[in-house]
Amino acid sequence: METRTGIDTVSAEQAHHEPSEAYRSKSRVSSKADYERLYKESIEQPDSFWKREASQLTFRKPWTVTLEQNGPFAKWFTDAELNVTESCLDRHLGTDTENKTAIIWEGEGGANKTLTYRELHEQVTLFAAVLRDQGVTTGDRVAIYMGMVPEVVVAMLACARIGAPHSVIFGGFAADSLRGRINDCGAKVVLTQDAAPRRGKPVKLKQTVDEALQDAPSVEKVVVLQHYGPESECTLLEGRDVDWATAVEAADAKNGAAAVVGAEHPLFILYTSGSTGKPKGVLHTSAGYLVGAHVSTKYVFDIQEDDVYWCTADVGWITGHSYLVYGPLSNGMTCLMYEGAPNHPDWGRFWEIIDKHEVTILYTAPTAIRAFIRAGDEWVNKHDLSSLRLLGTVGEPINPEAWNWYYDKIGKKRCPIVDTWWQTETGSIMMTTLPGACAAKPGSTGLPFFGVAPDVVRSDGTSVADREGGLFILRRPWPSILRTVWGDDERYVRQYFTDVPGNVYVTGDGAHRDADGYFQVIGRIDDVLNVSGHRIGTAEVESSLVGHEAVAEAAAVGRPDDLKGQALVVFATLKPGFAKDDALKATLKAHVGKDIGKFAAPDEIRFADALPKTRSGKIMRRLLKDVAAGRDITGDTSTLEDASVIEQLRHG
Ligand code: WTA
Repeated sequence: METRTGIDTVSAEQAHHEPSEAYRSKSRVSSKADYERLYKESIEQPDSFWKREASQLTFRKPWTVTLEQNGPFAKWFTDAELNVTESCLDRHLGTDTENKTAIIWEGEGGANKTLTYRELHEQVTLFAAVLRDQGVTTGDRVAIYMGMVPEVVVAMLACARIGAPHSVIFGGFAADSLRGRINDCGAKVVLTQDAAPRRGKPVKLKQTVDEALQDAPSVEKVVVLQHYGPESECTLLEGRDVDWATAVEAADAKNGAAAVVGAEHPLFILYTSGSTGKPKGVLHTSAGYLVGAHVSTKYVFDIQEDDVYWCTADVGWITGHSYLVYGPLSNGMTCLMYEGAPNHPDWGRFWEIIDKHEVTILYTAPTAIRAFIRAGDEWVNKHDLSSLRLLGTVGEPINPEAWNWYYDKIGKKRCPIVDTWWQTETGSIMMTTLPGACAAKPGSTGLPFFGVAPDVVRSDGTSVADREGGLFILRRPWPSILRTVWGDDERYVRQYFTDVPGNVYVTGDGAHRDADGYFQVIGRIDDVLNVSGHRIGTAEVESSLVGHEAVAEAAAVGRPDDLKGQALVVFATLKPGFAKDDALKATLKAHVGKDIGKFAAPDEIRFADALPKTRSGKIMRRLLKDVAAGRDITGDTSTLEDASVIEQLRHG
């Protein structure tokens, strides 16, 4: 059996950064030994571990069953009853947290708004009543297509309050992508806003909704927040569209009571790209997800009462769900939310915001860090960053140069960095170094979080040696594991539980482990790309391209890119009568942008007369990756049907 994975073995020793004594002394977990003790307990005595760690959360009925496992399917805290919003909101009422700021909102134009926990509770209760007025009941799906405004948090929590699973769709997705997701989950109501600003210009979200709904039979109502103003050219469709403010005014808070649901009641569906076919609706349920988000936030960000915590992720991605909404609010934290682009009006914007609001924790993505490095240190040096005490990264491997810059220039060598590895599917952080307990190594995500059992294996499921590359897997279920792919249990099993024997969760990433047990994740090994932290399925891009009249066949691959992590390169063959020229390349890039969203538009298109295929007709992607990166062809080409195509691809 072929057991090698093709992932290289590494040899270099990495630098260590131990937390300072000053930092340790204020930490929740302040030594490696403490971390190890808690970790051991989480694995060996999960019942008592999770009971204790979740004790701050509100359950209407506590659980007696911790885990029920049936092959790849796991249920957690099965007999508990709860409403997730009671842990995020109601539990803070009548405590010191009631009047604490929950959300500090910074508009792209510099406007500020704040909401205390009491105010957020009031707004969520009222909006829950609005949803009920619009006919939404427990179990109905609600699509949310909004920008970074406080109301999007209200919308998500209001859905959770009535037990209606939400599906937030990133505002950068185009109408077709939006429609596909709305139809897949059968949303009854769509929540949107007129427009969101992007570098001073309106992104007309409501117009995109109108286009998407031309063929979305399940949708009965659209609730529209007027945020941007007249330039958004937003009109309401009589009978279908409802003005947000008017609906809130008409609502009665008495109808906003929390619906009590079972532990496994669906909380949300979040679509993500897979290696094949259409995007997958990753399903997260109530109790396990909440516990995962809550406990990981508390330990990984080592939170303190007076923190001002800023997670820069958009609410349309999993990071925005777990670490902008459910994790921090269930911990009673003050969260900063920024509406706009990191470079608007200039590259100093992030540092200005940190200075202005005295942010203590910054959680952002390597791609942003690399862009800041390129913009120049002068933008950073203009601002006082002394409020910061902890830094985090997520979304892709961070290269040691970017890590070091983040550590030196932003954290001024005072702030530990947590490099957090996780996925839409895992729901919460799986790997990191707890900031006061364990040394960080630049480029290495570190050690497992509580309850997580990672391994690196060959394709026969046997563990690799230290520093030998292999498939990154998780050996046992954790509370916030996805429960299934919405409406497609079979795809869930096939996607995550078949490539490696032994009923283990296959992440789709490759990794190494060093002699200290630290894991270094090196990126996707399936056909999913990570472009500027956005997961893009090559299959989706290819299917968009062959949908264009000029394209006969297309193959999308990633090439290493200094700024974006990966750039998207497409190789295409054309139908007769179309010229292989730059005009067509530009048209095709725009076509994908219009189909999926601008962030998925190819960086480069190369034309050829044929794509390299094996004799059995499979496109040789590894070879295309080498060509795209300008490398020598490394793999075996003996099965290549027509060797002459390679030369053409190089120059196409
Ligand atoms: C990658 C984002 C290395 C990885 C939370 C994973 C990372 C995919 C890291 C999930 C990290 C995320 N180091 N790679 N710290 N964090 N990734 O679903 O390839 O948008 O499989 O979830 O991002 O992306 P997703």
